Amino acid sequence: MPNKYHSVRPLFNSSLPQLFIETYGCQMNVNDSEVVLSILQEAGFALCNKIEDADLILVNTCSIRDNAEQRIWGRLEHFKSMKKKKSSLTVGILGCMAERLKEELLNHPAVDLVAGPDSYRDLPNLLVQIREGSKQINTILSQEETYADITPVRMDQNGVSAFISIMRGCNNMCTYCVVPYVRGGERSRDPESIVREATELYENGYKEITLLGQNVDSYRWVDKDNPLKTTNFAQLLERVALISPKLRVRFSTSHPKDMSNSVLYTMAMYDNICKHIHLPVQSGSDSVLSRMNRKYTRNEYLERVAMIHQIIPDCSISTDIIAGFCGESEEDHEQTMSLMKDVEFYTAFMFQYSERPNTKAARHYKDDVPSNVKNRRLNEIIKLQNELSLASNQKDLGKVFEVLVEGASKKSKSELCGRNQQNKMCVFPADGHKTGDFVNIRITSCTSATLKGEVVK
Ligand code: SAH
Ligand code: SF4
Ligand code: F3S
Repeated sequence: MPNKYHSVRPLFNSSLPQLFIETYGCQMNVNDSEVVLSILQEAGFALCNKIEDADLILVNTCSIRDNAEQRIWGRLEHFKSMKKKKSSLTVGILGCMAERLKEELLNHPAVDLVAGPDSYRDLPNLLVQIREGSKQINTILSQEETYADITPVRMDQNGVSAFISIMRGCNNMCTYCVVPYVRGGERSRDPESIVREATELYENGYKEITLLGQNVDSYRWVDKDNPLKTTNFAQLLERVALISPKLRVRFSTSHPKDMSNSVLYTMAMYDNICKHIHLPVQSGSDSVLSRMNRKYTRNEYLERVAMIHQIIPDCSISTDIIAGFCGESEEDHEQTMSLMKDVEFYTAFMFQYSERPNTKAARHYKDDVPSNVKNRRLNEIIKLQNELSLASNQKDLGKVFEVLVEGASKKSKSELCGRNQQNKMCVFPADGHKTGDFVNIRITSCTSATLKGEVVK
């Protein structure tokens, strides 16, 4: 398949209509914005750095929790006042919130365009019609769209690491989650197009790629000409790892119910597959997990963790946790904390449960944990995780890690930062190294968030 949108254009060109893209939400949204940029470059737009210069502002939105949506409503008020000063400005809402709220967003005075995650190919057409004077909306979800033939245009100019979406949508129906509704059913992308995109990135100097999906372990491609020829995630991972031993490979997100030993063996077999697994647990209580429809028990989760340690001894594990889901008792909460201690996650994303309209939880369960209790439980979880992160980092003191340099550290220009394979951020004196280098670092000190070290000569 030829690459329809293989961009050879410069990213910035002030003589063309100016496009500004603001991205919220997960890594998949970041990658989708790059697909959108590719499509709109082809349609004659150029990216701009400053929102004030924009002729077209696109906001790629997230619906995962209520506060993510509230932020966007706030932004829309800001765009409304920008439009008062610049009447030619066009504002479009993309992404998950566009899909969930449709006309409600289109009716906002600041909004000209609403396009859901599967309608980005239609953007040039919608924009032509807006020029002719009418607001436009397309939120039709697709069974097939994977944007496989579109080469995303990378906005992050570091040129070191890039995302590749290997699938879209989700079929899991966790009862709290809005994703299956706003992203549609799960579909996998042709492995040939994934391997080709990764190869091109490598040839263009990229050092690390991250394969993205809501549940990468259920990746499955069936060859159209020969249904007996299938590719699962372990096989895809291997094909990508084989592109070059110098290309680091990461992936996210794994689902505890689907993560197979074959993925673990593949990780163990290839040095360039990073030894890190993001394995969201959500809760440590069986009754909560069952109401969440996660389809694993606490014990099954712990067995997966034991298997990871057995097959890949140096693998780090991170997680997502929701505090205060419907019906969560104090004992359920204690079980989450005890599971955290059992696993010793090196880091975690931790959230208060936020009821999402029309999900199964919203329809069938009562959001009955008072917000002050949710808040207190979340704070306890965060405090515990900080201790676990610090303990995990302290275990690394004296060890040597290969770090891929991402750029200057936030605090000092004379220091660089980058991640080790375990996904831990390391900071060290530059010592003549630069962005994109692989450097061996000996860890000499740490905080709960960062490892600090020195270059091994
Ligand atoms: N597909 C991934 C994660 C998707 S969303 C997975 O299954 O793990 C990222 C995280 O947001 C979830 O893991 C969950 O912890 C959190 N999340 C999702 N819906 C939420 C809700 N309604 N309230 C609070 N947190 C939520
Ligand atoms: Fe949401 Fe569950 Fe799908 Fe993750 S696996 S996106 S939490 S429904
Ligand atoms: Fe948010 Fe949509 Fe991602 S709801 S977390 S941007 S898939």
